[in-house]
Amino acid sequence: MTTAAPASAPGNTPLATHPSADLVDYLLRRRSTPIKSLSLPGPGPAAIQTLLQAAARVPDHGRLFPWHFIVFAGESRKKVGALLKKSWLTEEPDAAPAKLELEAERFLRAPLVIAVISRFREGKHPLWEQILSAGAACQNLCIAAHALGFGTNWVTEWYAYNKTFREGIGLDERDHVAGFIYIGTPAEAPAERDRPDLSAITTYWEPECTLNKGAAYGQPGMGLPRTGFSIEKKD
Ligand SMILES: Cc1cc2nc3c(=O)[nH]c(=O)nc-3n(C[C@H](O)[C@H](O)[C@H](O)COP(=O)(O)O)c2cc1C
Repeated sequence: MTTAAPASAPGNTPLATHPSADLVDYLLRRRSTPIKSLSLPGPGPAAIQTLLQAAARVPDHGRLFPWHFIVFAGESRKKVGALLKKSWLTEEPDAAPAKLELEAERFLRAPLVIAVISRFREGKHPLWEQILSAGAACQNLCIAAHALGFGTNWVTEWYAYNKTFREGIGLDERDHVAGFIYIGTPAEAPAERDRPDLSAITTYWEPECTLNKGAAYGQPGMGLPRTGFSIEKKD
């Protein structure tokens, strides 16, 4: 049994549409901030609550609430350092002390880190759809943080897949880390990065048409995996 969402509160009235030139402009120009540029101040307790509410208000097939949020604020960003060290030793048993110290400080790179966990609920709704909903939670969280004046960076990095770390923060083996969202105040304006040619990834469908593949199709890293691949990582 999952926890029910709170009843509609003032300010929580559903909106079907919200025409906003600002929002469209933002979406067409949004960018992540490099983690090293995420400075103080970070969101305070009220802002964190707003971010979590935004993250929990995403499309979710079956009202399963298939996510869990873990907040690393203040001292907990430092305390998780011991677990990061222990986890890195499972990756590199001979790691030098300086490297271990560096790993221990990962969560101190930004004022706030929120882990979005894709938490699979048993039933008729596919795992794939539940994972997609967790991705939407990550992006809602980022957009809400930007609207509050903060920069974000959505990463997974090695510790999202490290057994010791996953267990150490309380994950079940069926949980997946959708992302660690690093949040803070951007120290500088981000540079642009390449964006796709829309014609290569879009088809206006007609009977008998072939899907656009674009000039990059077939180049290393842009090809397709073998058929029948699974979304579950297999070692
Ligand atoms: C699920 C997911 C995991 C990611 N993990 C990493 C990561 O571990 N390291 C990294 O440098 N970027 C990672 N990224 C990419 C960044 O979040 C970011 O999207 C990217 O740098 C592109 O910048 P933009 O958001 O400004 O378009 C990840 C993105 C997604 C969606």
